[in-house]
Amino acid sequence: MRGAGVAGVMAMLLAACSERPQPAAREFPDPDSAGATLLASRCGTCHVAPLPSAHVAAGWITVLNRMQMRMRSRGYPVLAEEEQRVLLEYLQAHAATAVKK
Ligand code: HEC
Repeated sequence: MRGAGVAGVMAMLLAACSERPQPAAREFPDPDSAGATLLASRCGTCHVAPLPSAHVAAGWITVLNRMQMRMRSRGYPVLAEEEQRVLLEYLQAHAATAVKK
């Protein structure tokens, strides 16, 4: 019965993920850009996708690297090199200009 238990927990986790309301690309700055599309589609599966203004430009490098690690460890597809570059450029272009308190 151990296998069924694990499958049940997985199903619950997946359901919890998909029921969370997600901001659409429209809600981000420059909504038609490739960066906003990536942010909406790839960064809102484990938590609500953050606004680019959540971090200063330099901060996004560390956050993105950490998120790649989170995706890898949870078995999510990681961002391809090109996707990471586009997303980082986008986040940095709309990043906060001062560190938030
Ligand atoms: C596989 C699940 C997963 C995905 C997908 C994911 N994250 Fe996260 N994220 C986490 C977890 C877990 C935390 C809390 C722990 C931490 O901060 O590392 C977090 C926290 C955050 C935080 C708050 C912590 C901070 O330092 O500000 C931000 C911002 C963030 N994620 C941005 C992103 C972005 C941008 C993407 C898309 C590239 C993304 N996340 C995709 C799992 C994920």
